[in-house]
Amino acid sequence: MEQYVIKGGTPLKGDVEIGGAKNAALAILAAAVMTDDSVIIRNVPDVRDVNVLLGAIEDIGAHVERIERNVVMINGSTISGLSVDYEYIKKIRASYYLLGALLGKYRRAEVALPGGCDIGTRPIDLHIKGFKALGADVDISYGLISAQAEKLEGAHIYLDKVSVGATINILMAASLSEGKTIIDNAAREPHVVDVANFLNSMGADIRGAGTESIRINGVKKLHGTEYSVIPDQIEAGTFMFAAAATHGDVTVRNVIPKHLEATTAKLLEAGCQVVEFDDAVRVIGTAPLHSTSVTTLPYPGFPTDMQPQMTAVLGLASGVSTVTESIWENRFKYVDELARMGANIRVESNVAIVTGVDHYTGARVQAPDLRAGAALVIAGLAADGITVVDDIYYIQRGYEAFSEKLQRLGATMEKVDSEREIQKFILKVS
Ligand code: EPZ
Repeated sequence: MEQYVIKGGTPLKGDVEIGGAKNAALAILAAAVMTDDSVIIRNVPDVRDVNVLLGAIEDIGAHVERIERNVVMINGSTISGLSVDYEYIKKIRASYYLLGALLGKYRRAEVALPGGCDIGTRPIDLHIKGFKALGADVDISYGLISAQAEKLEGAHIYLDKVSVGATINILMAASLSEGKTIIDNAAREPHVVDVANFLNSMGADIRGAGTESIRINGVKKLHGTEYSVIPDQIEAGTFMFAAAATHGDVTVRNVIPKHLEATTAKLLEAGCQVVEFDDAVRVIGTAPLHSTSVTTLPYPGFPTDMQPQMTAVLGLASGVSTVTESIWENRFKYVDELARMGANIRVESNVAIVTGVDHYTGARVQAPDLRAGAALVIAGLAADGITVVDDIYYIQRGYEAFSEKLQRLGATMEKVDSEREIQKFILKVS
């Protein structure tokens, strides 16, 4: 099992290049099977979740080729199975995007039912509501969701809760239905817009993505395309918070600053300087950081996927901050790990009350999930002494070359995979 071992205390300095958005790429790769033509997708991050999904797409018979590290070609004409195995769903829930994609294309699909996960229970009732509204019969039995339809017809669908996954799954199925679909209370996340743009580039007719009402005129067929995934706003935000926590000066490049507005606003409130360029954002961390309050909300609100990283920063700010998690019920598991590094955080229901401390101290900690793992790395970079982050498997699900990028910013850290290597690192840096 690999670990990150970090000697904290060095302000991060320099430029970092942000990759393609994992959560956009997952949906776009699934949607790519909706045509029999070849589709080329650029700026695909080389991260575990993406690679698992590519395995699932290959497993149903599609042709998948990584032309370059970040370029993937998919051809869905050879699909021979419409059932996505539990093996994939249990590793990555987003495999369920194949349900919408295959239902739209073949009018039939079967996907193992995803269970809960590390950040909370994760219902899929809204996905099912959408498919049913389009005319599909959806059956859940023996741990599988099966959806099938004689024909799919446009419908007016109101999502009772803003859901990225349900919005995208319905978008896909509705694109190949007959007539007009309206999704109300749709998710407005940048990756929802990216998926809609991708589908439109394949010949779909989707309008209003990025607003709460998306209109889809079904088309008969989609065609091949070449498309580049948008930059990852969460990866970008993670480096921005790492700059703040270490009192560094980092320019994150290849970003869309508009997508980072909520993160930027909170960094300004915390007393950092943030300078926006056309496709870059520079964060200058100044001591001391100030306390502030934040509540996670669907886009354009503050993203839940940045919540742990923000808490790691606020743990070092003077005064008392509050962090309210309104999307997932179990996203504070990392707080106990941060406490082992000296953080003073009390969780009451869905609110973390963070009393800033002067500094963190290095410790051995365990990444409980992807973003929490990134937060622990940020804390380790800011801490006095050595931090070892175990279970970095989670971090690798969503960050490409994380330690390499941090090293280029001056971080003293290494990816290791044995106690011996940890000891070697400690000897080298002490
Ligand atoms: C996406 O998950 C992201 N994953 C998550 O990122 C992110 O945390 C989340 O959106 C919120 O922004 C991917 O894009 C692959 P939702 P998703 O459906 O689509 C409730 C990361 O770290 N809900 O928007 O599964 C649900 O319980 C990951 O990269 C229902 O009630 O999230 C939650 O409270 C973690 N019924 C809320 O909606 C449903 O049918 C938002 O969930 C679906 C969701």
